[in-house]
Amino acid sequence: MNEKKIILGIETSCDETAVSIIEEDQNDKIKILSNVVSSQFDIHKEFGGVVPELAARSHVEKIDLIAKKAINESGVNLKDVSAIASTSGPGLIVCLTVGLNFGKALSASLNVPFIGVNHLEGHALSPKLNTSLDFPYLLLLISGGHTQYLSVNGLGKYKRLGTTIDDALGEAFDKTAKLLGIEFPGGPKLESFAKHGDANKFKLPKPIINKGGCNLSFAGLKTAILRISSTLKSKQEKYDLAASFQKTIEEILEVKTQIAFDEFKKNNNKENKTFVIAGGVAANKGIRKKLIKVCKKNNFKPIFPETKLCGDNAAMIALVGLEKYKIKKFDNLNLPASPRLPLDENANSLKGAGVIL
Ligand code: KG4
Ligand code: ZN
Repeated sequence: MNEKKIILGIETSCDETAVSIIEEDQNDKIKILSNVVSSQFDIHKEFGGVVPELAARSHVEKIDLIAKKAINESGVNLKDVSAIASTSGPGLIVCLTVGLNFGKALSASLNVPFIGVNHLEGHALSPKLNTSLDFPYLLLLISGGHTQYLSVNGLGKYKRLGTTIDDALGEAFDKTAKLLGIEFPGGPKLESFAKHGDANKFKLPKPIINKGGCNLSFAGLKTAILRISSTLKSKQEKYDLAASFQKTIEEILEVKTQIAFDEFKKNNNKENKTFVIAGGVAANKGIRKKLIKVCKKNNFKPIFPETKLCGDNAAMIALVGLEKYKIKKFDNLNLPASPRLPLDENANSLKGAGVIL
């Protein structure tokens, strides 16, 4: 019989200071014992985006407290922790360094293995915290910094099928929200604005909708929003623009997901096909509804993380730590922070001028 494993996860890659403790029991059942997330919205909102130095300073000030809270809430005795896992990238280097150093110090003092985790892999595996999930599966990762379709073939084994060539989807939500006068980060509130509006009021562009496979682009959409937002005269018109934006995003994802399904099927003839939608934007109810519909039509099973596990958290970091712990994939204490850490190292960069799709 397997023995019980307890992993302490740490996440500080951007503007959330998070610590979580998870446990896998003798029957391989995973339980979240604590999951503490402290967001820095109040610190950054007056700047309309995350200020790296302020974020890092806040991580330094809070990490002890958040770790203590997570340990107390879990009821775990530190001497029973099997390993420490910290996000090592991608993210803001000054922020990553805080959680990485804290994790290394803890692992050295407890004399347990240290494991560096790719933040994106945390999102990719996050539904596994609540449900069983078998490789391979198709993943749509939609967050504030990334928008990608990937074939997830195993732990650390990713093949990128498509990516944004400019803005990430969360970024498009946040920038649109800002133009509508909604406080940072505006994504969630934009969705509630959209509920009061007429989604057919404004016709918005769908960049590269008929080319580039399942690659995506949102920059042209943002420019259109910028132009229209300066002409709006009433609150109702703001609601209408929010609704039109939400509808356009859903339609873009419907088309691109269909293409991603075809790409995924080319390399996988597995009978039961699964489509995981993860990352902060996966909390969007309209997007969930649309993608569930696309899945039904194409015989894919949709899987979303629990809403509170869509955004950045340390339970997903502990989860990847657990998977790596089981195969003894540990790191040295000199593991550096990696601001850029793609899931598919072989995929070409498709950002910037001169991209040919
Ligand atoms: O995964 P996440 O917490 O952080 C990154 O790794 O980037 O994603 C944050 C992003 C933000 O852009 C936020 O506005 C967006 O997810 N977001 C949403 C919703 N909830 C969070 N966007 C649209 N609708 C939502 N309900
Ligand atoms: Zn994230």
